[in-house]
Amino acid sequence: MTPVVFVLNGPNLNLLGLREPAIYGAGTLADLEELCRASGSRLGLTVDVRQSNHEGDLVDWIQEARTAAQGIVLNAGALTHTSVAIHDALRAVGVPAIEVHLSNVHARESFRHHSYVSPVAAGVIVGLGPDGYDFALQALARRIARPDPSSEPITA
Ligand code: DQA
Repeated sequence: MTPVVFVLNGPNLNLLGLREPAIYGAGTLADLEELCRASGSRLGLTVDVRQSNHEGDLVDWIQEARTAAQGIVLNAGALTHTSVAIHDALRAVGVPAIEVHLSNVHARESFRHHSYVSPVAAGVIVGLGPDGYDFALQALARRIARPDPSSEPITA
């Protein structure tokens, strides 16, 4: 059966194309979703793409991934910097998740430098725009094909 990967986008990412195009680019969420589906079909993954402005939806979807997906690509938007609930959900389900940000959060305001997602992510990709999602899907496809325990995140 084709492996399933959830691509989850958080608050305000529905406004891509309108929102601060100098930072986030001119592409829309629909463009980004299409890129993810195209990458998925190239990589032999079924990509299930979702967006919500609500923290609880993201928590529910991460929990759903426990039985319904083999990997998660997560851009939690601003919730990255605030949400212990998303951190706990990722920790609880143990499904490999790649954290993605369109912008280079480390080159921006200091409140964007801390992530609750990074310590429980299998990897982090920032600042590469929509390509970051493609790279994250490539990384998950490889990992699903041949899981390598040495690539597990180091946690305390
Ligand atoms: C973002 C970066 C976050 O700091 C911000 O709140 C977003 C988008 C990004 O993709 O660059 O909403 O996650």
